[in-house]
Amino acid sequence: MNTVKSVRELRAAVSQARAEGKQIAFVPTMGNLHAGHAALVEKAAQRADFVVASIFVNPLQFGPNEDLDSYPRTLLADQEKLVQAGCHLLFTPDVAEMYPHGTDGQTRVSVAGVSEGLCGASRPGHFEGVATVVSKLFNMVQPDLAIFGQKDFQQLAVIRTLVRDLNMPIQIIGEPTVRAEDGLALSSRNGYLSAEQRDAAPLLYRTLKEMANAIKAGERDYAKLITAAQAQHSAAGLRPDYLEVREANGLRPATADDRHLVILVAAFTGNTRLIDNLAFELDTPT
Ligand code: PAF
Repeated sequence: MNTVKSVRELRAAVSQARAEGKQIAFVPTMGNLHAGHAALVEKAAQRADFVVASIFVNPLQFGPNEDLDSYPRTLLADQEKLVQAGCHLLFTPDVAEMYPHGTDGQTRVSVAGVSEGLCGASRPGHFEGVATVVSKLFNMVQPDLAIFGQKDFQQLAVIRTLVRDLNMPIQIIGEPTVRAEDGLALSSRNGYLSAEQRDAAPLLYRTLKEMANAIKAGERDYAKLITAAQAQHSAAGLRPDYLEVREANGLRPATADDRHLVILVAAFTGNTRLIDNLAFELDTPT
């Protein structure tokens, strides 16, 4: 695997692969890679001949009181994992390479609709930062396909909408969330958890499954389910941010008639904010 830091070197390496007739797959990340990222790269290697990954902790998507400075930077370990997973080219730009004219006057990409509410409400400007950096990375790499984790369900919806609305010829693939044995969704931020917080965290996924089972059994009083689940979260020391039932394609609040649903949760434990979701289909009524 070759590691490059400049857009010039990146473009040269990708052009060469393209000249050899290779299909290009792209996996953008912020590093501190875990088995969930490895699964994205493995999928990329199955779907294309040349796999590009990026590691860039993007300042534009962090709020003023978030963990930009403390976000774990683990390049050597990340490089080993990427090689194992089948990556061919790693792009690790610094902030000056990505934003040579500074971040203040940087053209921003704002995706209406799916960016609003949920994480968009809790983290103002976050999805504009994500959509902007992903647009730049897509223009730099020009992949045929790009792979993202479904753990960031709203982010995936933002990126699908961005690619559709800006006519980018890139196939977007969402990969299932990789979980620890006790159900906790793998996340770079799990490393922040104390032993006690780590013990409480799997409750998020357990309550998502309980809610989904209740809905599959016919319950349509979503507000009642949400209140009961958030009471469980609070009792376990998880501070609720949001818990919502949404229609899975457009992410609008779910009605009793929707058949394709996603339940999305965000909660704090200490200063760490965890997110998770569960998407499922209801049988079509006969
Ligand atoms: O999901 C992430 O790691 C980031 O939001 C992404 C897509 C790499 C953009 O910085």
